Amino acid sequence: MAIFLTGSTGYLGSYLAAGLFRGHRDSLNLLVRAKSQQEARERLWQSLQLHMNFAEFQEHAGSRAQIFLGDLTDQEFGLVHDEYQNLIQSTDSLIHCAASLNRKSEKQCLNVNLRGTLEVIQLARRAHDHHGLRRFSHVSTVAVAGTRQDEVVQEDTAIDWTRSDYDPYARTKKFCEHMVHQLLPDVSRTIFRPAIVLGASRRPETTQFDMVQAFSVLASLPFLPLRPADRIDIVPADYVGKAIVSIHQKDAPAYPRYHLSSGLRNLPRIDRRARASWRFAPDLPAFAGRTFFRNDELALAQEKQSGTRCFAPQSFLAVSCLEHGL
Ligand SMILES: NC(=O)c1ccc[n+]([C@@H]2O[C@H](COP(=O)([O-])OP(=O)(O)OC[C@H]3O[C@@H](n4cnc5c(N)ncnc54)[C@H](OP(=O)(O)O)[C@@H]3O)[C@@H](O)[C@H]2O)c1
Repeated sequence: MAIFLTGSTGYLGSYLAAGLFRGHRDSLNLLVRAKSQQEARERLWQSLQLHMNFAEFQEHAGSRAQIFLGDLTDQEFGLVHDEYQNLIQSTDSLIHCAASLNRKSEKQCLNVNLRGTLEVIQLARRAHDHHGLRRFSHVSTVAVAGTRQDEVVQEDTAIDWTRSDYDPYARTKKFCEHMVHQLLPDVSRTIFRPAIVLGASRRPETTQFDMVQAFSVLASLPFLPLRPADRIDIVPADYVGKAIVSIHQKDAPAYPRYHLSSGLRNLPRIDRRARASWRFAPDLPAFAGRTFFRNDELALAQEKQSGTRCFAPQSFLAVSCLEHGL
């Protein structure tokens, strides 16, 4: 039996695939958009080279991964009947990470996020009816909380249908959570809501440049278009990946939803550092001021075990930006 993972060729999905390959023994059923197995392997290697060398990749991909050449927006992912049946019968749990993050295209968000998630839910439904699923993990986003300002948003009250959404991406992701909840009531489900995912806490390499470019532009401005008290919640991809993988593999996760964000504990730190080193524009209107709680369970357990603070994502960002002159 295997874990069905979508989005393994993407930024966060590569952390999930690498984390599962390295830290666990399960086989993986990977949905990859490609015309041939060769192309799919090349695409996977492109995303996983951030995490392992080629020999290790070949070993994992050769022995523990079954690649399904498919697209979320096609019925039954565009697989032929036997392949789809094989997928149903061999899937023991699912991590749905793939999405369109194109905030400007309602069409793409509708197609990939809504139609795509519905296809993944249908696979889960069929696998559950066939042999019972261990878990459905859904990668969502804190953006489902909708338009807010100066509020602490907690896991169980984040979705409020009376609120407006930031964009089609946030709106469709909110509805994806709703579909998972409504259509898989009898399946063990875990929802993960990361904040902005950027960089890694230990290594400078990345395969995702949008946000790096955004910060680079910000740093080149004569002043930051933020007020000193504004906050942007950023979490490193390795923290988010590790949280999703370890919680997905637990027998009984403590919570049904996890906010994977920096948390309030880190806010005063960035404030102190930032105040000392960055230039702020005090009178501009806020464009970011949201903070989110996370369940600190994972970080706290690790810190207790190692006797050190493992995760300080926001202060890391401040440090790394300053160190790199950004
Ligand atoms: N990045 C963030 O800051 C952030 C923050 C909060 C939540 N999230 C959530 O985290 C998840 C992953 O985000 P990411 O940053 O890793 O995104 P990404 O790098 O853009 O990766 C998206 C993945 O989805 C796959 N995908 C897109 N359309 C598909 C389709 N029609 N059929 C099959 N696969 C398809 C892509 O495959 P291809 O390689 O073929 O394009 C890719 O593997 C998403 O659910 C997102 O909502 C991200």
